[in-house]
Amino acid sequence: MIFRQIRGVITEVPVIKSMRFFSSSGPRPKNVFIVIMGPPGSGKGTISERIVRDFKLLYLSSGDVLRNHISNQTEFGVQIKPIVAAGKLVPSSLLTPMIEADISKLKSTGDTGFLLDGFPRSVDQAESLQRTHPPNLAIQLDVPFETIINRIKSRYIHLPSGRVYNLDYNPPKVTGKDDVTGEALTQREDDKPESVKKRLEIYQSVMDPILEYYKNKQVLQVFSGTESNVIYPQVKRFLEDFLKKQ
Ligand code: AP5
Ligand code: MG
Repeated sequence: MIFRQIRGVITEVPVIKSMRFFSSSGPRPKNVFIVIMGPPGSGKGTISERIVRDFKLLYLSSGDVLRNHISNQTEFGVQIKPIVAAGKLVPSSLLTPMIEADISKLKSTGDTGFLLDGFPRSVDQAESLQRTHPPNLAIQLDVPFETIINRIKSRYIHLPSGRVYNLDYNPPKVTGKDDVTGEALTQREDDKPESVKKRLEIYQSVMDPILEYYKNKQVLQVFSGTESNVIYPQVKRFLEDFLKKQ
């Protein structure tokens, strides 16, 4: 086990290969598997951090897994680097087995409360996940594109932990440094304006059928707004009720 601090909460992080996840300590909800979806920059990472803090779920982000491979220059990381940098989707044939294997490993730790960020992003990913690990809730963050374009310009991340900052909205205590480790913050390769444009275009072209898919499974819950500070209290209230019923 290693320990990592997420926004003031000491977390216990079992190290399993390339998996990137964190959870707060304490009793965890059982038999809950939530996916969180939304356009690039809609606040999935930001809202996930708060859900994990308040509801003690294990967390896995497909984007963090990919960035970790790229940063460690694994064979897979070298292969996908140009795809991610251009804002395109990594082929499902490569990513789906990796994410599903990571979820299986998480389950093998005996924990049964999970939050998955950024996956699925195509109907074939959703169908595959439904066969292997069916979610019992799919959260969709519905944030206007104009809001997103402005936010992404001032986003900085701490690559090793996935912690997200924004120079306007939640700046680091010391400019350019991670609050917890003091290490350097960086901008994401795919946050260049042309890549952001591509990511938004792709999102728009792929997302409707996925939302329809989860609507038909009766697990879809949409939260709309422009401010994570306004959206999160709604998510929190909903989850408090939802988890009581599980
Ligand atoms: P991924 O890492 O999942 O990126 P994304 O979906 O593009 O989403 P982001 O991480 O950019 O945004 P977010 O919604 O988490 O927002 P955040 O909280 O940071 O994927 C990256 C790439 O990996 C993909 O493009 C693709 O290539 C590949 N990939 C990943 N999954 C894949 C899959 N399943 N299949 C195929 N390929 C896949 O917030 C954004 C900013 O806004 C931050 O700076 C934040 O601080 C700020 N902010 C948040 N709330 C507010 C607010 N209220 N006011 C102002 N600023 C705010
Ligand atoms: Mg994110």
